[in-house]
Amino acid sequence: MHTILITGGAGFIGSHLTRLFVTKYPNYKIVNLDKLTYAGNLENLKDVENAPNYTFVKGDITDLSLLRELFVQYKFTGVLHCAAESHVDRSITDPLAFINTNVVGTASLLQAAKEGWNGQYDEKIFYHISTDEVYGSLGKEGFFYETTAYDPRSPYSASKASSDHIVRAFYHTYHFPVKISNCSNNYGPFHFPEKLIPLCIHNIINNKPLPIYGKGENVRDWLYVEDHVRAIDTIFHKGKIGETYNIGGHNEWTNIDLVKELCRQMDEKLGREKGTSEKLITYVTDRAGHDLRYAIDATKLKNELDWLPSLQFEEGLSKTIDWYLNNKEWLDEVTSGNYQKYYNKQYGV
Ligand code: NAD
Ligand code: DAU
Repeated sequence: MHTILITGGAGFIGSHLTRLFVTKYPNYKIVNLDKLTYAGNLENLKDVENAPNYTFVKGDITDLSLLRELFVQYKFTGVLHCAAESHVDRSITDPLAFINTNVVGTASLLQAAKEGWNGQYDEKIFYHISTDEVYGSLGKEGFFYETTAYDPRSPYSASKASSDHIVRAFYHTYHFPVKISNCSNNYGPFHFPEKLIPLCIHNIINNKPLPIYGKGENVRDWLYVEDHVRAIDTIFHKGKIGETYNIGGHNEWTNIDLVKELCRQMDEKLGREKGTSEKLITYVTDRAGHDLRYAIDATKLKNELDWLPSLQFEEGLSKTIDWYLNNKEWLDEVTSGNYQKYYNKQYGV
């Protein structure tokens, strides 16, 4: 029996994780703490919001007194920490928001859990969800291993790296029961359309330019979001305390090839003539400090915990496009209001 605090459960990955835990473990109590920033949306959890084992709390992970109260009230046995500012471009324009939520927020959560658990760490787990970006940028060869030295290069990745270090410091100093995973780029339903794949899907639907930073030669390793949360479930239940696990898709694409594949599939699905959407591709000014390549070696997770991605990319992308085409209301809702202001500022239109 677990009572689990999921932070950031109304976001992209957090909502898939919350849904998985609420439905797969009806005997666990799941409390979702989310500030509902622009990236958090309770519509992402409509199908589980009335489940008897699910509770939502609106709040900020930097609010230590709230966190202390929640640990007293719910007596959590586990934490799945997803809440973060997550978009690299926003971290370039507003780094302090990232330091605040990702660094101060994670430290506050650790402190509240440490006080709440008061040295009774048996059967307790503090699981910190992190990113492959902490390892920096690869050249054309090589992979990120769990042992790769940290070399973050954006305010976002530096804030995530800091949070990873603080989590490990609690393990080494207090024998605090932590687990960490560092995952590659996710894609799938409920992905906020400021990120490459959902942004391009939205723009293809609306015949708007597809902004490709620089020459489109940067490489990302894409993983379907449900495979990521399945890996988190595996690590939460079977992973070792104090360990780090890399999670990746073995699925590298240059941005330009990926967007061309997206255009191809969408032309077919929308009944448009072949080549129509590719004409929307527009090369724009590169992201400052743009990391060239990320690629995860997830052998440890495969060998020790028997996890592998389940979906081929073309299939995952097709499922993702279908979801967006069938959920235009969700897309319209999240792209109204402040989204337009962000978009105009970011892309200078
Ligand atoms: P997201 O931006 O979609 O969602 C973040 C959620 O956190 C939102 O619901 C938001 O409201 C909430 N939040 C933000 N600040 C908060 C605060 N101060 N207090 C409480 N809640 C707050 O992010 P995502 O893409 O789902 O990423 C989730 C986690 O996974 C992050 O830690 C991110 O670093 C990590 N990650 C993401 C990816 C990816 O490809 N998206 C890959 C690897 C790791
Ligand atoms: O690697 C894991 C990380 O993946 C996560 O930690 C981050 O939270 C998540 O946002 C993601 O970061 P990226 O910066 O890789 O994702 P994004 O979708 O923003 O960009 C993917 C690639 O596409 C990157 O090389 C930048 C490029 N890009 C992005 C946008 C938004 C463009 O060319 N044009 C765009 O408009």
